[in-house]
Amino acid sequence: MLNKQTVTDTVVRGQTVLVRVDYNVPMKDGAIVDDLRIRESLPTIELLQKKGARRIILVSHLGRPEGKKVPELSLEPVYKRLKELLPGGKAFFVPDVSGPDVEEAVESLPVGGVLLLENLRFFPGEEENSADFAKDIVDSTHADLFVQDGFAVVHRAHASTSAITAELPSIAGLLLEKEINGLSKISEAPSRPFVVVIGGAKVDDKQPLIDKFGKIADTIIVGGKIAADGYTSSAKNIYVAEDFVEGYEGELTGKKLDIGPASVEKITEILAGAKTVLWNGLMGMAEVPEFAGGSVAVARAIGTNDKIFSVVCGGDTTGFVENLQKTESELQFSLISTGGGAALEFLSGESLPGIESLEDK
Ligand code: 3PG
Repeated sequence: MLNKQTVTDTVVRGQTVLVRVDYNVPMKDGAIVDDLRIRESLPTIELLQKKGARRIILVSHLGRPEGKKVPELSLEPVYKRLKELLPGGKAFFVPDVSGPDVEEAVESLPVGGVLLLENLRFFPGEEENSADFAKDIVDSTHADLFVQDGFAVVHRAHASTSAITAELPSIAGLLLEKEINGLSKISEAPSRPFVVVIGGAKVDDKQPLIDKFGKIADTIIVGGKIAADGYTSSAKNIYVAEDFVEGYEGELTGKKLDIGPASVEKITEILAGAKTVLWNGLMGMAEVPEFAGGSVAVARAIGTNDKIFSVVCGGDTTGFVENLQKTESELQFSLISTGGGAALEFLSGESLPGIESLEDK
């Protein structure tokens, strides 16, 4: 459980609050593909407004521009989506993170107004965890309080997750709290049987998770490209998908692109008895409907069973589940995590600098 001060227990009336969000959303041709991270930032913003914060200044990164201004990675499209989603629409944007333009935008904000600054990673100081960079942001925004709500980035020690906390009293936002509390139910004392479903493409990314949960979970299911590429394990509690659906056209011919019917049957059976499930990684090339069957079956086996406490994490998996929910609204998951690497590092037992630096309860 999160043992840090939060926005719920802190007085914010009349204050200028600087909030680190993670608006690193997937984009295609300038359009936002999945706005989960924007939607999930709203409860904290709305609570701050309700509690009488004078101004709310949001900071985030988008992509990896490596300290340079890359116009395609501007947060302006994110701001437009935020404005649509925020009740009352009191959202504003300034294409900088410090200096006179920011000061002016802050001064002219209405009471309870929300100002999104430009992509932090346009400036080298962000990833260098520079104290000067953090101080410039605080000086230009006249912030009184820092709220960390960018759960997906708390595994990075950057200026907006680490150095900034030396400049301001620093507490957790509601999303951070929800994510940590949800993930802790899995990592601390999961109700059993506890099943971990792992898929996706890169075995190196997933091995730490398999190693960690191999000792804790009752069963680990491995599907996706990892299984198709021949993953093996001598551990008794690991089930690796045993048959596959193959591509039959063009360059996909003969490639194992989804788990097959025998694997689906076995996995469904395992999940039927589960009380806690962690799912990370798709079972196949689920963006192509013909090869989405395995992932759909897993989503249904978890999402229709109200006895299961379930956590879904990893951008591909959460995007897939959310899309499926549009047509199958009965599918429910306990936590659809916004964190990719952050969730995996937390679950693997690593300490997260962006959380460590916040004030203890
Ligand atoms: C993420 O999407 O995992 C976070 O936003 C962190 O991004 P990064 O891997 O570029 O640091």
